[in-house]
Amino acid sequence: MMLQAPAISDLHAVRTSASKLAAWVRGIGVRQVRLTCGLVMFTYIFSHFFNHALGNVSYSTMEWWLTNVHVAWWRIPIVNATLYAAAIVHLSLGLWALYQRRHFRYTAAEITQLVLGLSIPLLLCIHFGAVRVSTMFGHPVLNYGTNLFAFWVVRKYMIAVQFVLLTIAWTHGCIGLYFWLRLKPFFKRAWPFLFGVAVALPLLAMSGAQQGGREVTRLAADPQWLKENYRPIPPVKREVIDEITEVYFPIIYLSGIAFVFLARGVRSLNERRRGMFTVTYPNRQVRVPKGMSVLEASLRYRVPHASVCGGRARCSTCRVRVVSDRLALPRPSGREAFVLARVGASSDPSIRLACQLRPQSDVSVIPILPPHVGADFVRNRQRINVGEERYLVSMFVDMRGSTSLSEARLPFDVMFLINRFVDATSRGISEAGGQPNQFVGDGVLALFGLKTDKATACQQALRAAALVASNIAHLNHQIATEVRQPIQYGIGINAGDAIIGDIGFRGHTVFTALGDSVNVAARLQDLSKTLDCKVVVSDEVCKVAGIPDDALLRTQVEIRGHDQPMIVRTEKDPTVLASLLVAASAHLGDSSAIDLQEVAET
Ligand code: FES
Repeated sequence: MMLQAPAISDLHAVRTSASKLAAWVRGIGVRQVRLTCGLVMFTYIFSHFFNHALGNVSYSTMEWWLTNVHVAWWRIPIVNATLYAAAIVHLSLGLWALYQRRHFRYTAAEITQLVLGLSIPLLLCIHFGAVRVSTMFGHPVLNYGTNLFAFWVVRKYMIAVQFVLLTIAWTHGCIGLYFWLRLKPFFKRAWPFLFGVAVALPLLAMSGAQQGGREVTRLAADPQWLKENYRPIPPVKREVIDEITEVYFPIIYLSGIAFVFLARGVRSLNERRRGMFTVTYPNRQVRVPKGMSVLEASLRYRVPHASVCGGRARCSTCRVRVVSDRLALPRPSGREAFVLARVGASSDPSIRLACQLRPQSDVSVIPILPPHVGADFVRNRQRINVGEERYLVSMFVDMRGSTSLSEARLPFDVMFLINRFVDATSRGISEAGGQPNQFVGDGVLALFGLKTDKATACQQALRAAALVASNIAHLNHQIATEVRQPIQYGIGINAGDAIIGDIGFRGHTVFTALGDSVNVAARLQDLSKTLDCKVVVSDEVCKVAGIPDDALLRTQVEIRGHDQPMIVRTEKDPTVLASLLVAASAHLGDSSAIDLQEVAET
């Protein structure tokens, strides 16, 4: 059997996937590890509270689930080890984050999460000692019977402790999840469901435990039941466990937190000794100790600065353009590079994340986004475009005679017709690979080449013109009985360098293209009226697309604001462009070796 060599496109796909994976791995930072560990723990408490909630069904159901599902899964050695490792890493990285933070301007949600998170180990240690440390002393794994009897009959105050712990652990986890998920595009849709679960589960867990406690109190009246189900920890072991969990652990833990604050003080002194640097914003300057990030400098001196994720290197809204010497700055970390690449800003070395950039010398920056952008902005526009110059093909399609159309019709009918026109146009553009970018009244601006090379962009634009013409012809056929005159239109296509980026105010921004080449496309569309044709294409677009010189009528036109006349090609029936493209491709294919890109470049 002959082994076939993999196709070049397959190898290319494998290489692309491998480099994407490598970039993703490089983008894993401390916060991602902490988040992952938090998710492991959240899964555990979800499973645990769900188990409690089964008490609403019956005590025996919650006991059965505990033995056969919850314990059966979480006591698998590898799962168990993962859970404990996640807990230790999450707590350690939480303390590390506390050390790292250079300011105390917390939002209400952040401070709540921090305080709740720090209190969990203290509240948990008694429960953990009874349930887990006791097993290390050879005591059998505790069941619901023992726990519920111990809390509801022997030490009733523990009911309140447990319910407070449950509420705190759940709230801490939910706030963490919220910070993570709120930037995801699906969050707005999933929010009502997630909020419902977040509120319902702890309530169900507490009522389930309460029901279970009542049932166990009743069952405990039977000495035989008590003998079989209640496994108290022997007093000697209890004493040792209590000493560990109620004395040693709190001392060690609180000392750890105190140590973090002490380390922060030492660091501040060191940083002051190492010197200061100046951050220059467009309208002010601040001086901060070396070691601070640009975002921390902004927050310390209340310089308005967007930071939707709170400096966690997730949202990219803190981006700045560095306008001073970039060579003096530290290189972007793997995480910073990953986030910048995700929003399409990696090709511009002057763009940095303010929350990750810790300069060692003076720096001048311009924040790119308005300071008040919120999570909505990030969700709706993952690829925030900060302004970039690139070769683009712009196409304007305009409906003719819509003013006279509106005089003879009801507003509703006019809007209906214009919407059908815009729909027919946009479908053609999208099908050809372009992006319908702006709708101005009854006109559409489409962009080609945002993700493709020059030749492909030009071919796509010509194909789009053909598809638009065909769609509008079909539309005219459909509405022939409703309108006296078929819908008329004009198309202008031009190519050249344009600036692409986001323009707008607050949350209302649009991505668009600006520049002379875009304006010329609009003028060519206008000229389609005087030249008595449907489409006017710049000569360059036709050449780059591989359309022969004699294929369309060539003419020279004056463009308002331009000194030099311009050569354009005109056509009354844009559907012809499709066949010209096929012929051009076939011709280029016969001469092999030369692809459209090469034609474009020659
Ligand atoms: S604040 Fe979110 S990435 Fe910097």
